Amino acid sequence: MDIIKDINRKALPKHVAIIMDGNGRWAKQKGMLRTFGHENGTKAVKRVVEASAELGIKNLTLYAFSTENWKRPKLEVETLMRLLVSSLKKEIKTLKDNRIKLCAIGSLKTLPAKVYSELLEVINATKQNSHMTLTLALSYGSREELINSVKEISIKVKNNIISPENIDESIINEHLYTQNLPDVDLLIRTSGEKRISNFLLWQIAYAELYFTNTLWPDFTKEHLYESIIEYQKRERRFGKTSEQLS
Ligand code: FPP
Repeated sequence: MDIIKDINRKALPKHVAIIMDGNGRWAKQKGMLRTFGHENGTKAVKRVVEASAELGIKNLTLYAFSTENWKRPKLEVETLMRLLVSSLKKEIKTLKDNRIKLCAIGSLKTLPAKVYSELLEVINATKQNSHMTLTLALSYGSREELINSVKEISIKVKNNIISPENIDESIINEHLYTQNLPDVDLLIRTSGEKRISNFLLWQIAYAELYFTNTLWPDFTKEHLYESIIEYQKRERRFGKTSEQLS
């Protein structure tokens, strides 16, 4: 079934963010270890990154590791970190071929040194690319991001760089990790869970939410196309009435 033709290329979401959930359950269903689910999750990452770049989506942000994920069993955390390093090494060519710029948001300094240095290397090697920005949220938590921004703004207020009455949305935006990204238009969460889980709380204020029962390792290009077709059917009113829009 060729559903890609049903997508209106002129009305693509400018920023798609994905909570890639269900790796553990996918593996369990197959009688395998959770880490097997994560390994297959990386294949879905590749499919979705390529499909997004092919479609012409300008910004894709993936929740790869939350601040809370550090509490998982040591073997699982180690596997996720290992998969990150190996995927970055393996996919640098894919990123270059598709002119994708890699970025990362989160408390990056808390990542193992090897992950951090590999990440910086790929970020640096792809920084000139402008076809699509792929942002990995790593050791990311939205409340932590907001706390950091409040701290930075407070210091500037204290030093008379910003006056409190001038604090507005754009000043907050400039102090978030996502300062170079537009607001999220479409947020996808796989695996049937209907939660936001501390992901981009400020940035999803007007996002369309798309929940699917598909587990992340099963997520294909067609699933991405379906989510965009559904997004394009929705009327985004940004607080206005239907009549005001038409
Ligand atoms: C959620 O599934 C998934 C994660 C916590 C990690 C996502 C990571 C990857 C897809 C692989 C590495 C990423 C990149 C960018 C190469 P879960 O473990 O919470 O699943 P469950 O809810 O079924 O237990």
